[in-house]
Amino acid sequence: MNLLDPGGANAARIASVWWIIFGLGAAVYVVVAGFVLVAAFRGRRRRGDTEAVGRDSAFIWIGGVLVPAAILMLVAVVTVSTTRALRQPAKDPLTISVVGKRWWWAVSYPGERITTANEIHVPVGRPLRIELTTSDVIHSFWVPQLSQKVDTIPGQVNHLDMKVTKPGIYRGQCAEYCGLEHARMAFIVVAEDTTTFERWVAREQRPPGGPSAEQEARGQQVLVSSSCAGCHTVRGTPADGTLGPDLSDLGSRRMLGAGTVDNTPDNLRRWITDSQSIKPGNLMPPVPLSRDDADAVVAYLESLK
Ligand code: CUA
Repeated sequence: MNLLDPGGANAARIASVWWIIFGLGAAVYVVVAGFVLVAAFRGRRRRGDTEAVGRDSAFIWIGGVLVPAAILMLVAVVTVSTTRALRQPAKDPLTISVVGKRWWWAVSYPGERITTANEIHVPVGRPLRIELTTSDVIHSFWVPQLSQKVDTIPGQVNHLDMKVTKPGIYRGQCAEYCGLEHARMAFIVVAEDTTTFERWVAREQRPPGGPSAEQEARGQQVLVSSSCAGCHTVRGTPADGTLGPDLSDLGSRRMLGAGTVDNTPDNLRRWITDSQSIKPGNLMPPVPLSRDDADAVVAYLESLK
């Protein structure tokens, strides 16, 4: 999450402001340190040297007032103009709606009718408009390598217009303290070329295929008849809960628990049976399942792509 290694247009602007301020700060440091050394070696001026008094007071006015004022003005102009540039509305953007939740991110693409969670796929080079809101408390959407942070505020939709310029996987993080698991409210942005992105969209638009093996079929049975279905949706099945993340593409997602652990069968089994041991305080209750049932649900969920 190094903001000095930008992969997006907004982050590149922010990084240049950082470098300008760093450069000015370094120059001021060198000059001031230089004068300290000069003063130390030159020693006190002789008594009664009136010419030197006038020279020194001009020096104080220029070096102590005018130059700092000019530097601060420059920083102000650069900051304000960058802030304004960051607010430029995107032209013909791809709209992505993101809802901050305790403690994960609901992601949907209204134009494409796609719903997912914690993993945002975007095409490189295309302007993006992220619509941000929350269904509970204030969160803040921040991908340091891509753009500035924008808060999600209850009852209000904020916009973040941005563009990714380099393909890659970027980690994002909730940047506003929102309770117990604020630290584990991460997400990833997967930036890929247009063809790969469109292939992803097409795959997401199809409902997941039915179970292809006996164990997966049993897993589906267990999932729709247990408490899972009350909170989660798997498209094409009776599971249509909306409290927790949509699971229709869970097998294709890289992480579990909003960026907490890798999506592996072992981690998924642990998550289902005892998610509190991975992310204490998260709002998913433990699901009491027999070992075979848990294995079947894991096999089914990992098959959803
Ligand atoms: Cu959500 Cu901090």
